[in-house]
Amino acid sequence: MISQYLNNSSLVPFFLCGNSCELLKKLPCDCIDMAMTSPPYWGKRDYDCEDGIGLETDFKVYIDNLIGVFSEVYRVLKPSGSFWLNIGDSYLHKHLLGIPWRVSLRMCDEQKWILRNSIIWNKIKGAPDNSLDKLRNVHENLFHFVKSKKYFYDISMARKMPLKAKIHHGAVISASGVTGVRYKRQIELSTVLTQAQKNVAFIELENILNQVREGIIADFRMIIRGQQRSTHSDSTRVSGRAKELVAKGFYFLKYHPDGAKMGDVWDIIPEDTQGRKLHFAPYPSDLCRTPTLTTCPSGGIILDPFCGTGTTMAVAYENGRKSIGIDISKQYIDFAKERIAGNGLFQQG
Ligand SMILES: C[S@@+](CC[C@H](N)C(=O)[O-])C[C@H]1O[C@@H](n2cnc3c(N)ncnc32)[C@H](O)[C@@H]1O
Repeated sequence: MISQYLNNSSLVPFFLCGNSCELLKKLPCDCIDMAMTSPPYWGKRDYDCEDGIGLETDFKVYIDNLIGVFSEVYRVLKPSGSFWLNIGDSYLHKHLLGIPWRVSLRMCDEQKWILRNSIIWNKIKGAPDNSLDKLRNVHENLFHFVKSKKYFYDISMARKMPLKAKIHHGAVISASGVTGVRYKRQIELSTVLTQAQKNVAFIELENILNQVREGIIADFRMIIRGQQRSTHSDSTRVSGRAKELVAKGFYFLKYHPDGAKMGDVWDIIPEDTQGRKLHFAPYPSDLCRTPTLTTCPSGGIILDPFCGTGTTMAVAYENGRKSIGIDISKQYIDFAKERIAGNGLFQQG
């Protein structure tokens, strides 16, 4: 059944019910483009199964069990593949255990995963917390791992579209409101630039304003010696920019025309739309979207070994990717199938 699914062109998710460590063994090596999952927390959630991961009495055994599943994920992932792991932390006798990093470091040290990003998912609201001797916990980690140094990554999907520059009474105004007037004045009044440096600065400032006018770049900043601080380091030993500032008297920072790259802190409010009565920890679709679009090619295949209510699968389908979801709970698999059927999908698995 799995090999049939892998080879057909259907985008409809395929579900498997059972222990993911066992079921993953049925998948051939190097067949998955991207995996994304959020395993159960250790000792926190009351899942619909008695022998699921997260119920171990010792958190070190919990980590061993996760490491066992992730070694199978490593095996089934293509060399060009990515694995996105969303994992929450737990307390024991007042100690914050640091479970996300314990797991992540073992994956790198023992399984040769390459960690590319540690994203902070800022949940903004967080769970209620009545303790009087610590802060509320409102973030979780989302780690991006790859198998090899060269992997599939569509950076255009991780850019925020820039605002457009405007022309006002014939003068260009960059997306963030830069007109060049202030820079021209700073060059004119500079007591540290030579006249020759000023002449070059005026010409290059005019050139860059023309680039904004023609839409070649959306925005820029000018760093002028004695006016703005160098953006990296003031030390000419360390920073090429600082050297440029000394030699030429100025430099430009050009903003990428396709927009700025997303950062590694994501503000996403947890959704409450996926049947809280049935399941306690679905992650929001928005958490899956960027991983799906950046690291799974269109028509590629995504795996979630702890799929719960099937959020990963729903986002995969909406974005034209195939997917395989595994969960130990039949109730959650049924719910995931119903959820996806609600989106007008026929069910498999
Ligand atoms: C945090 S939830 C996943 C939530 C999911 N991301 C969603 O959006 O609904 C973790 C899931 O792991 C499942 N689980 C626990 N132990 C498992 C095991 N050994 N094999 C497969 N699934 C397991 C639980 O039933 C639970 O649904």
